[in-house]
Amino acid sequence: MRVLGIETSCDETGVAVYDSEAGLLGHDLYSQIELHAEYGGVVPELASRDHIRKLIPLIDSILDRTDSQNKIDAIAYTCGPGLIGALLVGGCVGRSLAYAWNVPAIGVHHMEGHLLAPLLEDNPPDFPFVALLVSGGHTQLVEVKGIGEYTLLGESLDDAAGEAFDKAAKMMDLDYPGGPHIARLAEKGTPGRFKFPRPMTDRPGLDFSFSGLKTFTLNTVTKHAQADGLPDDQTCADIAFAFQEAVVDTLAIKCRRALQQCNMNTLIIAGGVSANNRLRERLEEALAKINSRVFYARHEFCTDNGAMIAFAGCQRLVAGQKTGLAVDVMPRWPLDTLESL
Ligand code: KG4
Ligand code: ZN
Repeated sequence: MRVLGIETSCDETGVAVYDSEAGLLGHDLYSQIELHAEYGGVVPELASRDHIRKLIPLIDSILDRTDSQNKIDAIAYTCGPGLIGALLVGGCVGRSLAYAWNVPAIGVHHMEGHLLAPLLEDNPPDFPFVALLVSGGHTQLVEVKGIGEYTLLGESLDDAAGEAFDKAAKMMDLDYPGGPHIARLAEKGTPGRFKFPRPMTDRPGLDFSFSGLKTFTLNTVTKHAQADGLPDDQTCADIAFAFQEAVVDTLAIKCRRALQQCNMNTLIIAGGVSANNRLRERLEEALAKINSRVFYARHEFCTDNGAMIAFAGCQRLVAGQKTGLAVDVMPRWPLDTLESL
């Protein structure tokens, strides 16, 4: 079965063609980062309008490039969670094309897309596993027994990990999205100059909280600010280093705890923050000690993309699931309410 995947939940327009036999045939992404940069975050109305402009040309070109014109058997589009206007663009285009081509369509959960993205790589892990989902809007630990068999183990009580990266970056005048900028700056940081807290690691449980870390970062920035309102370059790098270590360490402690609690030895990490090299390195180190392994997708499939939606949709379509003719998008949609296969 050849599936066209469409992702428009936030500020990236992603498309892909995935074949249940041949695997991923191609994918393409248009990022709106520049459009939103001057506002320091995503402006929902601008995002929707830009998806309208970019989506159909992207679909046309991916169909050409993968030699898939008139060969698509089904369409998968992100139908939540995300920005309602942005979701509606992908939903309306995907559902209408499926109607016109007389093929089934399926609405895909964006976080299930992220969660399954590591399975697009060679030598994917087998179920069951624990998943750490770390994106701009979510920080969740999930016990995964199979597709759609998700039990929430813990989540952030306030900011998501990616959101914390973005806010810390903003305090040091770095561009949006801040995660990759903090990571780059941290490479020049001095280990040990600052020690940031590891929130909620000294008590049992698998929930997270990153808002205190944000305040700690702001206080440190303010304390070292010079006349222009910012600390000197080396101090910014040292703060970025300490901040990243605190987030990464906190995530690693909870992942290890989740694996032990579920009696499992496989972890997958997914979502934008899973592109963070220091997180990958730290988890590899921590899990080796408990005979466990961590799996993740290539960088471009950690952040939003169409391939993960085509892949997740394909798994469900092959099992006979599909969505009706109405375009129902769900800006809020708990992952553990999904149907299993
Ligand atoms: O999954 P994603 O592309 O979009 C959402 O579904 O939210 O995640 C975006 C988030 C942003 O907060 C961004 O700063 C963060 O992922 N991010 C990173 C890195 N690359 C992206 N955070 C830390 N280190 C990175 N290398
Ligand atoms: Zn995402």
